[in-house]
Amino acid sequence: MWTSLSFRFPLILLLCVAIAPHRSLQAASHDRRALKELSATQIATLVSQKDPLQQLDHTNPSSHLSRILIPRVSGTANNTLVKDYIISTLRKLNWHIQEDNFTDTTPLGKKPFTNVIATKDPKASRRIILAAHFDSKYFSTEEFLGATDSAASCAMMLDLAEALDPLLEKRKKAQEAGEAVDDDVADTTLQLVFFDGEEAFVSWTDTDSIYGARHLAAKWQETYVTNDKQRLLGNPMTELSTIEHLVLLDLLGAPNPLIRSYFIDTAWLFDAMASVERRLGESGAFTYGNEKSMAPGKWKSYFRKRTKEDSNLGYMGDDHVPFLQRGVSVLHVITEPFPAVWHTPRDDASALDFPTMRRWNIMLRVFMSEYLNLSPEEVKTTRADEQNASKRSEAELSHGS
Ligand SMILES: *[C@@H]1O[C@H](CO)[C@@H](O)[C@H](O)[C@H]1NC(C)=O
Ligand SMILES: *[C@@H]1O[C@H](CO)[C@@H](O)[C@H](O)[C@H]1NC(C)=O
Ligand SMILES: *[C@@H]1O[C@H](CO)[C@@H](O)[C@H](O)[C@H]1NC(C)=O
Ligand SMILES: [Zn+2]
Repeated sequence: MWTSLSFRFPLILLLCVAIAPHRSLQAASHDRRALKELSATQIATLVSQKDPLQQLDHTNPSSHLSRILIPRVSGTANNTLVKDYIISTLRKLNWHIQEDNFTDTTPLGKKPFTNVIATKDPKASRRIILAAHFDSKYFSTEEFLGATDSAASCAMMLDLAEALDPLLEKRKKAQEAGEAVDDDVADTTLQLVFFDGEEAFVSWTDTDSIYGARHLAAKWQETYVTNDKQRLLGNPMTELSTIEHLVLLDLLGAPNPLIRSYFIDTAWLFDAMASVERRLGESGAFTYGNEKSMAPGKWKSYFRKRTKEDSNLGYMGDDHVPFLQRGVSVLHVITEPFPAVWHTPRDDASALDFPTMRRWNIMLRVFMSEYLNLSPEEVKTTRADEQNASKRSEAELSHGS
């Protein structure tokens, strides 16, 4: 991540102005649209049918988080281990996997990189992308785990895929059976992108950072979509132009994050996420076990209030930039200021907060379900999730973490 950012820095402002006219003429529909809110019982199902903490629990050695939370610098064997874990998890769900491998020159010599792209339905004509980087930063002197940077986000993405897969499957079946589905969204799929080589090997520059994102954005700009549905639409479309939005997660998992709306054209998506948060918070969904600090009326929003002055004033250097520069619509979900542990050995499991991660997880489930117009069952929940949660908070207390 690039920190030396000033939001009112004129150069960055100029850069943004320069970017605007480049918006792809063939861009996918990224317009604001009304999202249908899920009912309270549908939300309750999403929150509880799959324990939203189990896979983010570092005390469970087989959780997604534990499998990702090892040093995983690009070009190392551990990086391959993590990449293969991500792939095997998504293969189990039958998602289409693409490994985008390439080599690039770094200040430490030539290195191999591999982005992982997982798509629920590769035949869909459009997609919303949820992304994070899976590599960790190289330090010559110390072991760095990058728990918030960005192991937690990657674990949340895997959990999201597992939670939503049955619903995406149900939507597909309904579509195939010719049942009435919302045409607007029915042909939009969910794609997860795990970027490699986000971190600089030495220090953040245009050429020593976001290796994977730079490679993939350039490649997708020149790759034409070949599936039939897309061809029927006439114009040849590139992989880049069929992205509705790129939602990039970074530096999440520590308590009290604060997210800003960076871009005017995704302000409505930012608002949609804040609306999900508000409804969940007021319903009591953020409280579990003995955790009461996020009870209705007590929880504090993770999203900064938007003001009229908000406009495209600047952005963080991160994986979204090469996409943004090519006209892709971006929602950047990054906490700012950065977590206090950022790029220190303290960015390990102790930096992560269970209630915060659980909250992100359920917010993402509801947000993506509403975006994709999925319909969870209207069933009352079992108590299993709550029982697991209280067991966990007892364990947490006794570990004193
Ligand atoms: C609760 O934990 C058990 C294992 O301890 C697991 O089998 C079960 O699926 C969990 N329940 C939920 C709702 O996640
Ligand atoms: C690879 O990960 C293991 C944990 O699974 C860790 O003990 C080891 O130090 C890591 N190797 C490197 C080179 O960081
Ligand atoms: C990418 O992977 C393929 C298949 O494993 C391999 O044949 C190819 O050489 C790799 N390319 C690079 C640049 O590493
Ligand atoms: Zn970093």
